[in-house]
Amino acid sequence: MIHSSFNLNLDQLTIMIGDQPDEIRENILASPERFLDLADFILGQPEELFYLADKNNFLTRDQGPEETVRPSDFGIPFTRREREVSSLIIEPLKELVYAAAQDNLEIVFASGYRDYDYQEMLYNRYVANYGQDEADRFSARPGTSQHQLGTAVDLGTIDDSYALTPEGKWLEAHAGDFGFSLSYPKGMEEVTGYMWECWHYRYITKEGIALQREFFLDVQQYMLEFWHTHKEELSAAQR
Ligand code: DAL
Ligand code: ZN
Repeated sequence: MIHSSFNLNLDQLTIMIGDQPDEIRENILASPERFLDLADFILGQPEELFYLADKNNFLTRDQGPEETVRPSDFGIPFTRREREVSSLIIEPLKELVYAAAQDNLEIVFASGYRDYDYQEMLYNRYVANYGQDEADRFSARPGTSQHQLGTAVDLGTIDDSYALTPEGKWLEAHAGDFGFSLSYPKGMEEVTGYMWECWHYRYITKEGIALQREFFLDVQQYMLEFWHTHKEELSAAQR
């Protein structure tokens, strides 16, 4: 056995990860115990924190956070018409915003939970303005947005120039310390399905960040796809 929490030997783990790219497989086989430690933690977390919502994996119309809260009620500054977030992420979001404030930076909340109907309205508006092919590069179709989970946030000014501001740079360096992962990194459109979005972060816990960084080439999409495919097997092997 590799790990006391799982009924798994190295051969079984090797077979399980056989669908992964070489580099990811090597990472896992180099530290299988650490890998299963993180998997054990994540299996104990609310499922929606690691739910795959992308161009191939749709949420149903009524899927969404169990409970939502308004960030401004927790002292978080906001722009636009304020949206809510899943109550699962409010504490880490607060920690992130307060830590930036300690460094004299104001991280402004711009968007959070968007239900199916709202996403549909947004997407249709983008299609009308930019055409469907272009809209698909930066807007999720209804049922495919991480925003429907209530665990993704848009921060700052929602444009590329935000990446060059002190706030954008601070986020790039520190968001992970609070469990927030950049969903659509630069140059990854082929993998994520979307253009770079320096403002869009998804909360995946600090352990999720560790899993993404140490094993999945620091790409959230790779990690969530793996989790989507293998969480049942891992859960079944858990003691
Ligand atoms: N802009 C991201 C991809 C969304 O619409 O969810
Ligand atoms: Zn977003």
